[in-house]
Amino acid sequence: MSKTLVVGASGATGRHLLRQLLDKGACVRAIVRAPNRLPEDLRTADNLEIIVGNISDMDQQELARHAKGCDAVASCLGHNLSFKGMFGAPHRLVTDATKKLCSAIESNELKSPVKFLLMNTAGNRHRGLNEKISFAQTCVIGLLRLLLPPHADNEDAAEYLRSSFSNDNKKLQWCVIRPDSLTNESNPSDYVLHPSPIRSAIFNAGKTSRINVGVFMATLIMEDDLWSEWRGRMPVIYNSDFLESSKAI
Ligand SMILES: NC(=O)c1ccc[n+]([C@@H]2O[C@H](COP(=O)([O-])OP(=O)(O)OC[C@H]3O[C@@H](n4cnc5c(N)ncnc54)[C@H](OP(=O)(O)O)[C@@H]3O)[C@@H](O)[C@H]2O)c1
Repeated sequence: MSKTLVVGASGATGRHLLRQLLDKGACVRAIVRAPNRLPEDLRTADNLEIIVGNISDMDQQELARHAKGCDAVASCLGHNLSFKGMFGAPHRLVTDATKKLCSAIESNELKSPVKFLLMNTAGNRHRGLNEKISFAQTCVIGLLRLLLPPHADNEDAAEYLRSSFSNDNKKLQWCVIRPDSLTNESNPSDYVLHPSPIRSAIFNAGKTSRINVGVFMATLIMEDDLWSEWRGRMPVIYNSDFLESSKAI
């Protein structure tokens, strides 16, 4: 039976991922600071094991124990949208957690590579592809990088995975999932995937519902064919209905 370690499971998107995995019968281990932030039906699910703690306080050895036996590790971590969350410590929440989790995975005895899924943003570029953005967007992103620690954190986390793990790595395979502006919907809907953004995340942002991100991440974890298609890549996910009703750049 496959098992997934989820971090950021208590977040607005992480909960959707958790529900999708549990509904599909997967076993999940989730690290959460406050279990009561999870809906009760999730919290009490038989196939969920909750580890209470703050990932920022956990060292590599502890994370190696939590990752043991898991064939996938998924991060929906993100800085809380408050002044403290955006500008206070930990400034490198996502990057540090990604690095520690990857080192933890590598330190374990593994029969096959672990899937590592990182929720990121369409505002981040895949540095290995020639993703063209306008001069104006380059300037705005440069400012965000300087002024908004969470943006640089998301960029660094994705770049760490891209530059550290080649596609033939025997211990870890990765996928960086890039939604555009996140929305809250109750039900999944059709979505499209692109290897690179098809519109400006700054000046003409698309929409991606959090539930669709959860569905896509769970499907990547559960379906090896989809994983083979997107591993080592940074798919951008958009809600289809929004793209149809608006003009892409
Ligand atoms: N907003 C957008 O339109 C947009 C668009 C594209 C991508 N994104 C990215 O998507 C990601 C997730 O978005 P979301 O809306 O689902 O996030 P969210 O609801 O804010 O969830 C964030 C998760 O990270 C955890 N977390 C936050 N600060 C932490 C800390 N200091 N230590 C340990 N855990 C911490 C939270 O735990 P607690 O529940 O304990 O606080 C929660 O589980 C973010 O990286 C964001 O940059 C956002």
